[in-house]
Formats: sequence, structure tokens, C-alpha cells
Amino acid sequence: MTCLYIRNAAQLVTMQGNNTVARCGVSMGELGIIEGGSVIIKDQVIGFVGTDDEAVEYLAHLSDDVQVIDASDKLVTPGLIDPHTHLVFAGTREHELEKRLKGTSYMDILQGGGGILSTCEQTRAASKKDLYVQSEQRLHQFLLHGVTTIEAKSGYGLTIEDEIKQLEVAQELSQHHDVDIVSTFMGAHAIPPEYKNHPDEYVDLVIENMLPAVVEAGLADFCDVFCEKGVFTIKQSERILEAASMLGLQPKIHADELASFGGAELAARMGAVTADHLLKASDEGIKQLAAQGVIAVLLPGTAFFLMEKPAQARKMIDAGVAVALSTDRNPGSSPTESLPFMMNLACLTMKMTPEEVLTATTINAAHAIRKASSIGSLEVGKQADLVLFDVPNYQMLQYHYAVNHVDTVVKKGRLVVQ
Ligand code: NIG
Ligand code: FE
Repeated sequence: MTCLYIRNAAQLVTMQGNNTVARCGVSMGELGIIEGGSVIIKDQVIGFVGTDDEAVEYLAHLSDDVQVIDASDKLVTPGLIDPHTHLVFAGTREHELEKRLKGTSYMDILQGGGGILSTCEQTRAASKKDLYVQSEQRLHQFLLHGVTTIEAKSGYGLTIEDEIKQLEVAQELSQHHDVDIVSTFMGAHAIPPEYKNHPDEYVDLVIENMLPAVVEAGLADFCDVFCEKGVFTIKQSERILEAASMLGLQPKIHADELASFGGAELAARMGAVTADHLLKASDEGIKQLAAQGVIAVLLPGTAFFLMEKPAQARKMIDAGVAVALSTDRNPGSSPTESLPFMMNLACLTMKMTPEEVLTATTINAAHAIRKASSIGSLEVGKQADLVLFDVPNYQMLQYHYAVNHVDTVVKKGRLVVQ
């Protein structure tokens, strides 16, 4: 057997000690840095983390062949994790950008039958094969940007068959691609045109037919709802998420994205795993998220691309909310796979520190998809997902911005980008 020895990193960011917290109060900004740190990987799993002197001693007791990667001018971190994407869909919507630049709002476009609904039309028309090919290209871009695990939502099918089609594509991609995918059912992403005049009947369909079918097929771990003025009401969102919880799907909420609507308060009341977006979250909502240990998944690329004011990350962190960051990859409000650029935006538009943004895209992102026991930090026994960046320190990732610094990606102990 060959083991992989990543030696003598300029900085090794371990995030050690952060993953004992299961739900709340995930501490921000403790990176567990080892200068001249090394990692030894055996059988897809981390076998050793420490200084290079200790690594040499550890290796002396091993009889395996050793493949050495010199990281002496590199930053090594856990594989980045994106806890909020809409990966699987067909087509693009570049024409909407022009409309928005001329003053039409994102919501006007949706209410006029475009936006999510235009992607829905294209996704319904696409074959599984076609969806797979288009989504695989996006997934590969994630990997090239250092992302080794993502969450992916359905929500562009809006019929049982088409929601299942999306979730099956995500499952197949997760099986065949190096990036792991955790799936979320989001049948309540928009009211489909055929239910425009009787939305509650669509909510009934989601609860009575879609949710049981998705659970029966074992296609999702979470359930999400676009709880927003003009989309799903608080009451409808609550009904859907309660039904989902009863069936074992953990709740997530697109909350207070475009209007202050009580989404954060609902997330707290339901004990949701995460409340996402939160551009317009109220002070009371923020307080309640902290009190209930709901993780805030912030999406600075969406605010940037929609030309909206970003979420109040500082206020949330100072109130004790655990923050994770994500691309929100989707064809309407955030067409990018660059999680590192989201980190730059989090720093520059929300004043998160370089330490906080690394925490938010590793261990906190792992907590946001309930995977912190196996990924999100570099610790003995955890899955060996790592990134080597071609920079000498972690601050440089935020300073030399909007450039892809990824040099090498290791997924489950294998070199997948080099
Ligand atoms: O998270 N807000 C709802 N859903 C996505 C956008 C989806 C789309 O425009 O296609 C979001 O921003
Ligand atoms: Fe989203």
C-alpha cells in the first residue's frame, strides 16, 4: 500500500478542535495553524497531522511505500465545502442580466414567468443525460476551485418526476465524480405555472406526494423552502418543513433574501439546520438564530450579482451566530462556482476576517450539511480531503483576490487536481 505524505507546508490550516460542537456556537476564526506542518494519508483517511519532525518519526514505523508531495511554499487547508448550491439544472439566463441592469427586479422577472420558471421549463425538457453532462461541467469547476464536497438542491422540476430526475442526477454525479454531493429536496422553490392561481394545492402536492416519494427513494437528506414575500408564505413553509421533518428530512430555509419576512425567526422556531441568504434578516431574527444554534449560510455572491446590500455578517458573528459561506450556484442569482471568490467578497463586502472566511468554508460548512464528523478539518481519522494553494499564508487568499490559487486537490487520499 502507498501512503501520501504532504510535507512541510508553509502553513497547514487544520481547523482542529472545532468539530466537537454539534450544533451551536461553532467558534469562528480558530484555524489551528501548524507552520511547517505535514499530513500523512493512508487508505483515504488522515493518519497523521503534525510538525514535519514528528512526521518523519511516524513514517519510520511504517512499512508502506510513500508518495511525497513537497508543500514547503504552499498553504494547505481542508477541502473547501459549499453547503448551498442549485447544481442540477438546464440552460443559462444571461438575458436576465441585461434586464436587471436596466432596472427590472429579480422578483419582477420571476413574477412575469421568467427567472426560476424559465430554468424550470428548460430542466423539464432536458433528458437525464443532458442534465448530467451540464451539471458535471459545473461540478468540475467546483473541484478546480478547491471544493471537495457540495450540497445540491432540486427545485427546477416542480413535478414529482422532474424533481426526482434532478435528485437522481445529483446522486449519480456524487457516485461518479470526485466531488461528493449531499442532496436537498426543494420542491418548494417556486409555484409552478399550472398552480399559479391555487398555490396551496401545490403545497399539498409537495407534502402529500413529492416528499414521500423523495424519502422512499432515499434521494435527499434535507428539505429547503424559498420562504419569501411573493413565493412561499411563512405558513406554507412551516407546513412543508414540518412534514419533511416527520419523514426524516432536516429543514433548511431560503430566508429573508429579498424582503424582511420573518424567515430567520421561522428557522429558529423550527430548529432548522441552516437559514440561508438573510440579506434582510431582522435584529430579532439574528438573535433567535444565535439562541437556537441555527447556522447562517451567507451567500455574498448572490448579493453582489443582484446588486443588493450584503448580509450583516458582523452583526451575526458578534451575536454568536455560526456563519458558513457558499456560492449559491444557480443560473439566476449567482452563476459562479468560485467559492474562493465568495470568500473574497465575504471579506471585502461583509468585513469577515480571513480567519472567519476559512472557518466558514471548512468546518462550519461541514456542520451546515451535518458532515462535521468526517470532513471540514484535518484530524486523524477524518476523510483525507485537502487543498494545496500556491500562496505562503492564508491571508494571501483574500489579498490577491479573484484569482484561482489552487495548486493541488486531494480527495479521499487521491490526487484529483495537480
Ligand atoms: O438562492 N432564491 C431562490 N433561489 C435561488 C435562485 C434561483 C434562480 O434564480 O434560478 C437563490 O437565490
Ligand atoms: Fe439558493
